[in-house]
Amino acid sequence: MSGLLLSVTTGELASVVEVGVDLVEGTTALLGGIAGGFKRHYKSLRSGAVRLLFERRYGVRTSDVVSLEKFGLAHEERVYYSAANWQTLRRTLPRDAVNENDVFVDLGSGMGRMVLEAAWRYPFKKVIGVELSAELSEIARQNVAGTRLRLRCKDVELVSSDVLDYEIPRDVTVVFLNNPFRGETFATVMRKLVASVDDNPREVTVIYFNPTEDEFLTSTGRFRHVRTVNRSRRDKQDGPFGTIRIYTITERAGA
Ligand SMILES: C[S@@+](CC[C@H](N)C(=O)[O-])C[C@H]1O[C@@H](n2cnc3c(N)ncnc32)[C@H](O)[C@@H]1O
Repeated sequence: MSGLLLSVTTGELASVVEVGVDLVEGTTALLGGIAGGFKRHYKSLRSGAVRLLFERRYGVRTSDVVSLEKFGLAHEERVYYSAANWQTLRRTLPRDAVNENDVFVDLGSGMGRMVLEAAWRYPFKKVIGVELSAELSEIARQNVAGTRLRLRCKDVELVSSDVLDYEIPRDVTVVFLNNPFRGETFATVMRKLVASVDDNPREVTVIYFNPTEDEFLTSTGRFRHVRTVNRSRRDKQDGPFGTIRIYTITERAGA
């Protein structure tokens, strides 16, 4: 054994050491990766369990992921149902930024999780959810009717409609979007929103979760980006997903 070792040249020894270091580093990275993966998996399992316990406690159901194909409503510009995290509004909209003259709308409200959070946490005059699927709207209605969360805002309206057919009320001041639709549908709805502000000038805050159409908003010159909230450092690397961007609508030039 020692004879074998003695016959190894310095160069060969260096290669053996390098391979050894590679092996150690590789194993460490692998173990780190497994540990990281396990940690992420554990965290997501834990938050899933907490969510379910929370929903059971308050008698609501919002956690499913639902394809629009199931209702014959699939279209390339429409995004399937998947709820934003509970606490999304808490993390983006300070309670003292809302008063009893404010009106909230979630465009593409699904099972109504953000409608519930808005009505529960804030003193809005009115909270509205607009949802394409009648089935999802009906679940949202049951959630609002049966919730054991004490809603501060009693005026909650759930509209079952394609957003393209929906007239944005003149008094809406907070608009929430969780990547509900894209392309021309998104552009048309945002133009309608700007028109409603031009028609009845007021401060409007737009909270956009998973903001895939941010470029369009910027291109209009009417949406001023106020701030961005990232859920975690990892989300920063995931493009728009996991990010919340907040905008206000600026006055028309020359107004
Ligand atoms: C990603 S989910 C967001 C649900 C909810 N806002 C939340 O965050 O909990 C998108 C929702 O937009 C709805 N949607 C898609 N296209 C729509 C349209 N043209 N009109 C109204 N709702 C639409 C989908 O049915 C789905 O429920």
